[in-house]
Amino acid sequence: MTSHSAVPTSSPDSIPSLVSPILVASTFATPAATPLKLGVMASGSGSNFEAIAQAIADGQLHAKIPVLICNNRNAKALERAERWGIPSVLLDHRTFASREDLDRQIAETLKQHGVEWVIMAGWMRRVTQVLIDAFPDQMLNIHPSLLPSFPGIRAVEQALQSGVKISGCTVHYVHLEVDSGPIVMQAAVPILAEDTPATLQARIQVQEHRIFPPAIALAAAQRAGVDPTTFFSTPANHKVS
Ligand code: GRF
Repeated sequence: MTSHSAVPTSSPDSIPSLVSPILVASTFATPAATPLKLGVMASGSGSNFEAIAQAIADGQLHAKIPVLICNNRNAKALERAERWGIPSVLLDHRTFASREDLDRQIAETLKQHGVEWVIMAGWMRRVTQVLIDAFPDQMLNIHPSLLPSFPGIRAVEQALQSGVKISGCTVHYVHLEVDSGPIVMQAAVPILAEDTPATLQARIQVQEHRIFPPAIALAAAQRAGVDPTTFFSTPANHKVS
């Protein structure tokens, strides 16, 4: 079901936003379905990782996170994993001879944990064909712009500097070229005259946290050929817009 409406609150997401087709349902259509097994990859803060964990805990996203992979020992994502009781594995890219070697180890670790879907949630390394081939069409990434505009690093700054009046975020499949795969879901965020990179990024992140869980469910459902509500539900009277 498609739902496009303004967000009527006064918190950081008080500015209206638009979300591309999203899931609205009252219950899991098939509650007996096996939960999705998500392997999350994060390099930094891990707020998207936590949003996914929260959606699972809230009974919205029908999934489990058997492992978080992190490449940076100081990442806050590791602390969040500990708080959530989610196993984490540190794979420091600096200890691998090549990107391919790192990706081989990531793929092996994910497989050891029974992961089906790989979720790049702020993974700040370019991935190679080694990892993509290990999880064909089962890798998703989130990017802080309305792709195909502003791929690559500093996407929020790029959008501000370009003078566009609307930016947002995109959940997309991972292909070899950075931020290039098919789009699953987007949310639009208006750019305000007084915006700085920090204020715009904060509003974009609110939308990231909102669309990532249903986007995962949508991609998984499309692949399995089942109704998206198999993997995602919202409370009966709550409309995600
Ligand atoms: C997000 O803005 C995401 O779009 C980008 O990296 C950032 C990660 O943030 N790929 P967090 O670590 O999830 O807080």
